Amino acid sequence: MISVENLSVSYGDLRALADVSLDVADGEFVTVLGPSGCGKTTLLRTIGGLEVPTTGEVTVDGDPPEVAQADARLGFVFQEHTLLPWKSAIENVTFLRRMAGKDPDPEGARDLLATTGLDGFEDARPGELSGGMKQRVAIARAIHLGADVLLMDEPFGELDEITRDEMSVEILRLWRENRKTVVFVTHSVPEAVFLGDRCVVVSGAADPADPTDGDDAPGRIVAEFEVDLPRPRDESVFGSEAFGAQVARVRRALHDDA
Ligand SMILES: Nc1ncnc2c1ncn2[C@@H]1O[C@H](COP(=O)(O)OP(=O)(O)O)[C@@H](O)[C@H]1O
Ligand SMILES: [Mg+2]
Repeated sequence: MISVENLSVSYGDLRALADVSLDVADGEFVTVLGPSGCGKTTLLRTIGGLEVPTTGEVTVDGDPPEVAQADARLGFVFQEHTLLPWKSAIENVTFLRRMAGKDPDPEGARDLLATTGLDGFEDARPGELSGGMKQRVAIARAIHLGADVLLMDEPFGELDEITRDEMSVEILRLWRENRKTVVFVTHSVPEAVFLGDRCVVVSGAADPADPTDGDDAPGRIVAEFEVDLPRPRDESVFGSEAFGAQVARVRRALHDDA
């Protein structure tokens, strides 16, 4: 379980996050939705042990995130794919696991690439792959690492809308088959709704109850929704009335807040 308790993060004088509390259960898929600059990446990086809380506490299965990270229990997928350009797709997938000192599993890596639709591209370098394919490799790498927790920061942000939809369906299938806990950051309302069991809305709007909040108001959690859509979810959900209704509900809450 991921536990975030009364977390605040400042960069010098700039308060990026204030008083954020969030629990993510094992196997849960939580989406974090908010406008650009509200502190989503800061939240994700703090959960991942890449930023240190200014106040408050983050734990992963009871341990500090740095410990979980050192044990390869956390897998990251960023907006930029961060693949090694001189290594092939398969080498990129196996590299982190090797670095983490885990048993090599070349067959598992091949299977994973195949199930992400990259059969035949094992030996291609990132420069020879499309944006969507590169993100598939990055996702396969995080799963192959054997991490229980996937931290994803707008991983489909650079992709065209059609590929994004495909990748969303794909990530749900991989999540189902591999039983991961996922925290997925996005600024897209439909993406947050389609993917999440629960959608947490972060806003940088000033808190009227806090006289110290100025124009530089830090990110806070302002709303939370259980997404009421059955699983498994596939392409057919995008056109469904239930999906449209959930998206409208989240949009209304965002605009009421603003
Ligand atoms: N390393 C950093 N140093 C200073 N300021 C930062 C740093 N990272 C982020 N910020 C600032 O913190 C705020 C939140 O940023 P970020 O977490 O990246 O938001 P988001 O991911 O929602 O766009 C922004 O005002 C951003 O400029
Ligand atoms: Mg960001």
